[in-house]
Amino acid sequence: MNARTTRVLQCSAVLVAAGLVLTACGSSDDSNSSGQSKSPSFSGRGPITYVAAKDSSGVTEKVIDTWNKQHPKEKVTFVALPGDPDSQRQQMIQNAQTKSDAYTVLSLDVVWSSEFAAHQWIDQLPTAQFPLGKMLKPTVETGKYRDNLYAVPASSDGGMLYYRSDLLKKAGVSTPPTTWAQMQAACAKVKKLPEAKDMSCYAGQFQKYEGLTVNFAEAVNSAGGVITDAGGKPDVDTPAAKKGLDFLVDSLKDGTIPKEAVTYQEEDGRQAFQNGKLVFLRNWPYVYSLAEKSKVGGKFAVAPLPGLDGAGSSSLGGHNVALSSFAKNKATALDFMKFFTSQETATTFLEDASMAPPYESLYDDRALVKQYPYLPVLKKSILNAAPRPRVVQYGDASSAIQQQAYAALTGEKSSAQALKDLQADLQKLSAQ
Ligand code: GLC
Repeated sequence: MNARTTRVLQCSAVLVAAGLVLTACGSSDDSNSSGQSKSPSFSGRGPITYVAAKDSSGVTEKVIDTWNKQHPKEKVTFVALPGDPDSQRQQMIQNAQTKSDAYTVLSLDVVWSSEFAAHQWIDQLPTAQFPLGKMLKPTVETGKYRDNLYAVPASSDGGMLYYRSDLLKKAGVSTPPTTWAQMQAACAKVKKLPEAKDMSCYAGQFQKYEGLTVNFAEAVNSAGGVITDAGGKPDVDTPAAKKGLDFLVDSLKDGTIPKEAVTYQEEDGRQAFQNGKLVFLRNWPYVYSLAEKSKVGGKFAVAPLPGLDGAGSSSLGGHNVALSSFAKNKATALDFMKFFTSQETATTFLEDASMAPPYESLYDDRALVKQYPYLPVLKKSILNAAPRPRVVQYGDASSAIQQQAYAALTGEKSSAQALKDLQADLQKLSAQ
């Protein structure tokens, strides 16, 4: 019996015997549980670890250094995992399955909350101890499982269209495209410029990994389709979804998207854009500050993602912090999580690495908007973003999406067949 089962059983016993309110057990409404850090599950002080993707901006190390200077007896060690989200998930799951205490605070991709909470790999958190009311609502929702809080937003993410404003201007295109057809027309004009003749039009993330799930979902949603309907049922074998997938498949065939883009993760696309190989790039906000420092600095801008008949829709991304159920020193961990998800830390992540803050007020701060002109586009992207399927078997669902979308992109299957097969795969998973 693990600690959580023990706690749940103890809670039920108390409830039956004394009719006490659920809040005492940290259940669905724990808004009065600000003293929960004193409960056995949040006890113990001392060194802990923070486990996240390696950070090329160096800002994670900087934030942890600030904490460590203030807490010499409760130091945090940064365990840097590979950049690929699927490998991060694998390593965190392995750690949980062996009940290892090596990982304390986990940086969870927003799509993993249900899976980690349902398996009891992470602890339920006391809502009252985090300023959730100041955060964008969709970001907070990503950290919940069955209405309980299991992970707290550290950074959000919304896809944006990066474009070479210098070249569009020179080619006489005065506003960024809002539809895929307009994007292709703008590219045709730009490619007539001598300096752009070897450039490709567009890329996103099309390697077979989580980024492909994101890009596939965006293409489907931006054509008016869905992967799962409002009730969570798979509904991807539709004409609308096909139009979305066909945009990607046809663009690869006609060269709008370069062939090598089927090997691109976020960083590959960023490099291609920075090296002047792309007119348009779909990517996350972190690219902004790095690209500003590159040779395309001052030559690009961002716009909302385009779609079939009008503006497209992003997949909601981002990272939340969660507490490993198997960790030691949970009182320290909870304090570190509060520090790490504070508005001050989010401002540092924004200023140093153009990461999307969960805090709403930062998007409306005039001085920040002047300095970071992409903030209004990003806020819209996040507020209009579609969550990826919120299912406990997220890993299996995402891997089915990746398999089928990749088969269509590489011409192994028609898009109609890929969607039919994906619908069957997802139906099988939801029947489990
Ligand atoms: C970003 C997003 C995350 C997404 C990943 C895909 O890190 O924040 O939500 O799953 O990209 O590659």
